[in-house]
Amino acid sequence: MARVFATRALPFPALDRLRAAHEVREWHGELPPAPGELRAAACEADALLTLITDTVDAELLDAAPGLRAIANMAVGTDNVDVEAAAARGIPVGNTPGVLTDATADLAFALLLALARRIVPGAAMVRAGDWRTWEPAGDLGADLAGATLGIVGRGRIGQAVARRAEGFGLDVVHSSRSSGVPLQELLERSDFVSLHCPLTPETRHLIGSRALARMKRTALLVNTARGGVVDQDALRSALHGGAIAGAALDVTDPEPLPPDDPLLDAPNLLVVPHVGSATVRTRAKMAGMAVDNLLAALDGRPMPHPAG
Ligand code: GLV
Repeated sequence: MARVFATRALPFPALDRLRAAHEVREWHGELPPAPGELRAAACEADALLTLITDTVDAELLDAAPGLRAIANMAVGTDNVDVEAAAARGIPVGNTPGVLTDATADLAFALLLALARRIVPGAAMVRAGDWRTWEPAGDLGADLAGATLGIVGRGRIGQAVARRAEGFGLDVVHSSRSSGVPLQELLERSDFVSLHCPLTPETRHLIGSRALARMKRTALLVNTARGGVVDQDALRSALHGGAIAGAALDVTDPEPLPPDDPLLDAPNLLVVPHVGSATVRTRAKMAGMAVDNLLAALDGRPMPHPAG
């Protein structure tokens, strides 16, 4: 029986399979374990079940020589130093595929919310400021006939493209190996949706130069990782009218402090990293993380290895 440390309480049926085979300790704090707390728990564990809120770096791995497996309950693994783990012979797993539709749905929800001014409209009603039907008030942007630029052509980018077809959008994409150059996508798109992983190459991919290339009427949606966008540049672009609006499911840092200057920017919608947050999707993610741990602790290859 191996000792598994799960960095949060995980109320999903799949955990019972893990508990039946191994000794599972869950972190019951409302917030994730602090780095020192994670290190202390990892030192006594054979395997970790981590979330995107946990940083697993070389230092932590050195402090926990007994680790034999890490299952990250996320498709993104930028919180785990996968190379450092591999160098120590520790397999790392992730949860690709099962959150594709949920995340693509959220990208569309954000796009529609921005384009049709849903959040300011709802606030206006509650504030008692809805005085009459305005012929030229609360006007948003049409999706049909507009161009959606999708940055990244992985599973989620492709799922967004499928949804776009139903809405009558023209789609252009840009990725490392296909599509149009990013600059061209930015210039042509009415809406830009980000679906690339966060890597050293994509950090601040959308900075002041990229934002300046976009149409002044364009809207930006980010459901990828906060670090892909330079938030200082985004703030300036929104204040200066270089683009018309942005919706972010991901920020840098997370959570975004309520006094972060970005939140003063106009036409900005921020939600708390809920791309995969549906009942079915999270249960499936937990199942994949458990499958990864059961396999690795049994000496078999993980079914869903990261990278
Ligand atoms: C969520 O952001 C994930 O990577 O699963």
